[in-house]
Amino acid sequence: MREQGESARRTARRLATAGIPHKAEEPLSRHTTIGLGGPAELFVEPRFVEEIATVLEIAAAEGMPFRVLGAGSNLLVDDGGVRGVVLHTGALDFVRFLEAGRVEAGAGVHFPTLVRKTAASGLRGIEAGVGIPGSLGGVLTMNAGAYDFSIGRHVERVSAVSPHRGPIVLARDQIDFRYRASSFGSDLIVASALLALTKDEPAAIKFDLDRHMRFRKETQPVGVKSAGCIFKNPEGDSAGRLIDSVGLKGFRVGGARISDVHANFIVHDGKASAADVLGLIDAVREKVFRDSRIALEAEVMTWS
Ligand code: EPU
Repeated sequence: MREQGESARRTARRLATAGIPHKAEEPLSRHTTIGLGGPAELFVEPRFVEEIATVLEIAAAEGMPFRVLGAGSNLLVDDGGVRGVVLHTGALDFVRFLEAGRVEAGAGVHFPTLVRKTAASGLRGIEAGVGIPGSLGGVLTMNAGAYDFSIGRHVERVSAVSPHRGPIVLARDQIDFRYRASSFGSDLIVASALLALTKDEPAAIKFDLDRHMRFRKETQPVGVKSAGCIFKNPEGDSAGRLIDSVGLKGFRVGGARISDVHANFIVHDGKASAADVLGLIDAVREKVFRDSRIALEAEVMTWS
């Protein structure tokens, strides 16, 4: 095991004094959907917005870099892991139903779970996102989407923490949602969001939700270890279609291979390393560029 640095030890002591749950050298393979990645030097799990602010203050005072981890569904962590603080949002997992179709939820809530809970409570709007395997904070931060679903339309306000300004609340019109990007990121960390949904019969919403899930299962690899779509779609085309058209379905580097169901997904067969996945990403990018002159841009985030 790597020796822990002095600033990591001091950071851990200060987190302990503040009563904030944390662990040293936590394997990130346990926290990524592709099941890969080395350890985080300090893995911290704040439970409230105030604790996020405290973690950021301590990390800054100790000169520790920090990263934010949600469900780990769009993330590739290097086999060597990462130095510094990984702020995991998993403990920010409350869901509160308010008046008039509003629901407030913590950044760490698993998005499909939130979709199922709101549907069961007769609230419509986000059911097309039932197959998005991220956390609510991740869905907002990367403006994840599926079919006609886009989270921005349903946001009333977001509570976030800025490393410089502390906790702040943003109304919908103060937030920028672009293709797979938003105002949020490491400069503005989502703590919770208030969504405005519309009322309907739970059975009718469930019907649509099931239809979306069925379609997703037919067109994307579900229930296997993957990191979601690897590349962004180039303007006017689909990365999956392009990778498929150059004959790369099933192509493999070590234990990582291009899915036979959808070519923009890399599947980990249980014996892959992060290096295999990164090698496969490079090979795909090269082949697509050679054959079609299109430079694919990664959608998946990489940490090293
Ligand atoms: N296609 C192929 N071969 C493949 C995959 C796709 O020929 O291996 C064809 C399909 O037949 C279809 C076209 O390419 O004609 C588009 O495919 P699809 O409808 O699956 O959509 P996509 O553009 O590949 C995007 C998002 C997905 C999202 C789906 C559904 C990106 C990079 N991908 O995929 O998002 O789930 O639409 O809305 O924006 C993600 O971002 O992680 C992700 C999976």
